[in-house]
Amino acid sequence: MNATEPHLPTPRPAWIAGQAEQSDQTLAVHHPYDGDEIATVCVPTAEQVERAVSAAVAVAKEFRTTPAHLRAAALDHVSRSLRERADEVAEMITAENGKPLKWANVEVNRAVSTFRFAAEEARRFSGEVQRLDTDPTAEGRLAIVRRVPRGPVLGIAPFNFPLNLVAHKIAPAIAVGAPIIVKPAPRTPLSALLLGELLAETNLPEGAFSVLALGNEETSALVTDPRLPVVSFTGSGPVGWSLMDAAPRKQVVLELGGNGAAVVCADWPDLDFAAQRIATFGNYQAGQSCIAVQRVLVDRKVADKFLPMLLGAVGRLRTGDPHDPDVEVGPLVDEAAARRLETWVQEAVDGGAKLLAGGKRDGASLEPTVLSEVPRDAKAWSEEVFGPLLAVSVTDGIDDAFAQVNDSQYGLQAGVFTRDVQVAFRARAELDVGGVIVGDVPSFRADQMPYGGVKGSGVGREGIRSAMNDFTEERIMVLTGLEL
Ligand code: SIN
Repeated sequence: MNATEPHLPTPRPAWIAGQAEQSDQTLAVHHPYDGDEIATVCVPTAEQVERAVSAAVAVAKEFRTTPAHLRAAALDHVSRSLRERADEVAEMITAENGKPLKWANVEVNRAVSTFRFAAEEARRFSGEVQRLDTDPTAEGRLAIVRRVPRGPVLGIAPFNFPLNLVAHKIAPAIAVGAPIIVKPAPRTPLSALLLGELLAETNLPEGAFSVLALGNEETSALVTDPRLPVVSFTGSGPVGWSLMDAAPRKQVVLELGGNGAAVVCADWPDLDFAAQRIATFGNYQAGQSCIAVQRVLVDRKVADKFLPMLLGAVGRLRTGDPHDPDVEVGPLVDEAAARRLETWVQEAVDGGAKLLAGGKRDGASLEPTVLSEVPRDAKAWSEEVFGPLLAVSVTDGIDDAFAQVNDSQYGLQAGVFTRDVQVAFRARAELDVGGVIVGDVPSFRADQMPYGGVKGSGVGREGIRSAMNDFTEERIMVLTGLEL
């Protein structure tokens, strides 16, 4: 079956314990740009969901003891297959999510790496040896510390990276030998189902993975199901924290939102570069990334020079049909999202903000928008906009800029354009975020690096090795009577 062929005669199957299965209930997937139906997918029945969970539980022990080479080979297979089918997969991402092909290609390449990193980590995940003879009571004793899966993982993924953020659930789980049940976002299930298809071509044991295109409501029972002790969620704050409240005894990992800040310091030598990067990464995939630039904090000493550069760079962004390879900014995921953002722009303007660019909506698309002097309580500043909107603020020195970055309910990543190493170290020490990117936008992410936030941006970390740690717990074995 070609997973990306539009209008399949039968709905795309769910992956239940590694097997493709049909069901009577289906979900239609629409292209955000023109609303066309591009595919239907099977929504698993309660009985199928139960079989997926039981199989995950049943295989857990066998899976955690499968040899590393087998798990690594499966991950390598997915990586290789995605690379071989890259064009087709990118088209599918654009069709289901509406992100321009340019960004869909980037996402496919990242997913290729995500699976490859996981294969590499699976091969080296060996544990540690700790000598205990540092006290007289433990002479001749040695601890072998290894990490074992906590149990089957429930991975809940968002729509904004329908392939790579699903990869960040599946790949580390398989790397450690934890069965995984993935629930993709209802708007964008196709990439996740494709990953099911690729995993089904491997030698993973039955039950090691399931991909269930469930509605958000049907997922609640899985969140509280004690047989799934790990819940890894990427999505909105209110939903994420409610999952943690619903399952307080579980290992709940939350990758939530942000209102990413980019600080442009007075010492930064290339303002044009900063302007280009901020314009691009405030608007990439229509701003629908948790680390998109939202707040731009530019030092007063360079603001007059920088602002026209920023507006010029935003104005040059090509908008339109996301299948056009030259388009940089396409639609939001649906019209409701664009309407919501339109009201946030209006709220900011009503509160005294200046509209410097954009602001107009057409269906699900909003023009790349730039505001300044946004009231601090306006949603365009204080909430996660998740759309093509930049809010500019002029700052007076580093203290003021850092205070403004920290004046947020969120703390995912921040970008600081400086060449001053003292300022860079201050940023790392003083900014309440999970990551500081020096000399670039907050939107930089390499898939092997720890990624996650503080405050309202979540708990736990992605990045293959970090997620492997989150999905496992330490187990030690102490050997006695040794000559160390
Ligand atoms: C996110 O939106 O949280 C993910 C950003 C990324 O992977 O680049």
